[in-house]
Amino acid sequence: MSRPRVFVSRVIPDAGLSLLKAHFDCEVWPHDRPPTRDELVAGCTNKDALVCLLTEKVDADVLRAIPSVKIVANVAVGYDNLDIAAGTAAGVVMTNTPGVLDDTTADLAFALILATARRLAEADRLTRSGTWGGWGIMQLLGHDVHHATLGIVGFGRIGRGVARRALGFEMNVIYSDDYPPLPEVERELRARRVPFEELLRTADFITLHTPLTPETRHLINAGTLAKMKRSTCVINTSRGPVIEEAALVKALRDGTIAGAGLDVYENEPKISSDLIAAPNTVLLPHIGSASHATRGKMAEMAANNVIAFFKGLPPPNAVNPETLKSA
Ligand code: DGY
Repeated sequence: MSRPRVFVSRVIPDAGLSLLKAHFDCEVWPHDRPPTRDELVAGCTNKDALVCLLTEKVDADVLRAIPSVKIVANVAVGYDNLDIAAGTAAGVVMTNTPGVLDDTTADLAFALILATARRLAEADRLTRSGTWGGWGIMQLLGHDVHHATLGIVGFGRIGRGVARRALGFEMNVIYSDDYPPLPEVERELRARRVPFEELLRTADFITLHTPLTPETRHLINAGTLAKMKRSTCVINTSRGPVIEEAALVKALRDGTIAGAGLDVYENEPKISSDLIAAPNTVLLPHIGSASHATRGKMAEMAANNVIAFFKGLPPPNAVNPETLKSA
């Protein structure tokens, strides 16, 4: 009996790839760049499943061009690259990889808080430059992280992970979220839910942990930036378009806020030259979940979703489970 055919849109960690190869006939996109729309469609032609990354846009138009594909397994927790409504309408199951990357991403968000506050990238550049003249009492002064107020926008698993790390720095943690967690979680994390406006006005560090949705697109814009303190640093490890990048650049240039630590960008992988030139920024190339262990778990989870599907079981991480009734 022939095995289901799977297109894998990049070489993914072996923990997932070997599982896929053990169960399916796999074609793996061999290049170290995302396939274009047409290359993605060509790869998926006559395939039963697609395992893809957040760099692949799977919209209604792509889905129409790949009618043999019954499941799209994203190797990412965020799935704004998938058109879920179109997938559901086409009866295509779509899955993501929640949970396994929370701590790794929270680690990176905290690293960006420290790096931005204490100007680590700038300090590293100075140390390597050969121009460092020795210790200086006025040199590279930054902001304290300990005892500062941390504002967490989006108090899901990753946001809470950042709050847990902040306990060790004795920070005052406030958060905004439409859904408050259980009171015992608030107590354990010593976190206080406040209106978004209050968070904007009072936080020293504002770290973003919301999914990208029509409601959160450009949540941080000229208006919200203007409400922040001049000493505030903004940290983003969620999705780039949550921040209106042009407004952020202006706020950094004008001194409306003190700094930004970014792992994600509005038009990845393009980064505007204005942002690159903006003062007091630490810029990383979307590496929030990039540890060996976590990327392995993400790949394995995506593979297990596809395996479950072809065994006739519900994939554990379907984001449109309504398709399963008809799958
Ligand atoms: C995700 O899984 O959504 C992350 O952004 C990948 O690092």
